[in-house]
Amino acid sequence: MIITPKIRGFICTTAHPEGCAANVRSQIYHVKAQPALTNPPMKVLVIGASTGYGLASRIVPAFGGGAATIGVFFEKPGTETKTGSAGWYNSVAFEEAAAEAGLYAKSFNGDAFSREMKDEVIAAIRADLDDVDCIVYSLASPRRTDPTDGETYKSVLKPIGAPYTQKNVNTDTGVVNTVSIETASDDEIAHTVKVMGGEDWELWIDALAGAGVLADGFHTVAYSYIGPDLTYPIYTNGTIGRAKEHLEESAARMNARFGDATAYVSVNKALVTQASSAIPVVPLYISLLYKVMKEKDLHEGTIEQIQRLFSDHLASGNAPAVDERGRIRIDDWEMSEPVQEAVAAAWEKVTTENLSELSDFSGYKKEFLRLFGFGLEGVDYEKDTNTERSLPSIS
Ligand code: NAI
Repeated sequence: MIITPKIRGFICTTAHPEGCAANVRSQIYHVKAQPALTNPPMKVLVIGASTGYGLASRIVPAFGGGAATIGVFFEKPGTETKTGSAGWYNSVAFEEAAAEAGLYAKSFNGDAFSREMKDEVIAAIRADLDDVDCIVYSLASPRRTDPTDGETYKSVLKPIGAPYTQKNVNTDTGVVNTVSIETASDDEIAHTVKVMGGEDWELWIDALAGAGVLADGFHTVAYSYIGPDLTYPIYTNGTIGRAKEHLEESAARMNARFGDATAYVSVNKALVTQASSAIPVVPLYISLLYKVMKEKDLHEGTIEQIQRLFSDHLASGNAPAVDERGRIRIDDWEMSEPVQEAVAAAWEKVTTENLSELSDFSGYKKEFLRLFGFGLEGVDYEKDTNTERSLPSIS
């Protein structure tokens, strides 16, 4: 099949296997070009391992430290007539590269929120690794079925207390308009916390602890975001922010149970991923941020961010540096004053007419397409491509 991008709003419904593989290889190449990690975890479980921050969190310990990895994700394999999802092809490419490098890699495709998935992963750890010493929790999902009550909860991206009106870019047309979002109800807040808070993270750690497959001195990390004042109503002070507060409470509970310096929340930079492109206002902010950070030579993608998370914090041999709330801050460059001042000044001025001059909107769009394997150098997009790719560890 000749595969082209088919974009529907903030999602691309096709993905290119060779392009996804090229994307994964370039991330591996980046990691291999850095000094090896000083004190790497050697048996790593990544929950949400197929795209975005989770994929980078699988690549860095594997190729920067020689770790065995287990990846959990929810992706679609391709069929003869339909492409698979990008995360499926990314994981195929990851496993192929791991096998070539002699690294253990096993993947599980299914619902991470379910008890069955936890049991299957525990069985694999017992059979192959005995235990795990690092668990990365990097899920981003719009819904969760709670295994205890069978109810399905849906997360929303809404402000709390007052409606929110802000500039926004239509990513299809490049028109800068205004978006207004209604206040979340109490139920919507509670549901978002159920889906994106730390409950399932704790359930994973509970299940692993109960099965006796957590190594002494293990650590676990989940990801959060803070961002600038202008996105506070939709992010930090909105429904997703409540869920991220819950994530921090979960980390505190796990530290009380397993010892300080076990569970961390890492606050990461705003980046183009499948999850972030769905948040109103954020794509315009990211377009302005990329322009400023690229000009200041401070730009990082997911792989550079996670390389820094491991090399400077989780695998440095020293305790991670944390802020007053115990969080690791790899959003430090994004949140630095010169960057934020420049973005805020551009935000005031940006319109449809000056979007390409003031922002890196074209970079945003390219990056979005790359998530699905399009626009990568060295890939022949005119060539007939086989959409069925099997994941070596999933029969
Ligand atoms: P993403 O959309 O690229 O990745 C989500 C991952 O979760 C994929 O591997 C997907 O297969 C997996 N997944 C979703 N539902 C699942 C389910 N039911 N069972 C198993 N796997 C499932 O998202 P991204 O952006 O990498 O987000 C990861 C975390 O990082 C989230 O907590 C997000 O809030 C956080 N974060 C993201 C930032 C950004 O700008 N993208 C910034 C800071 C934090």
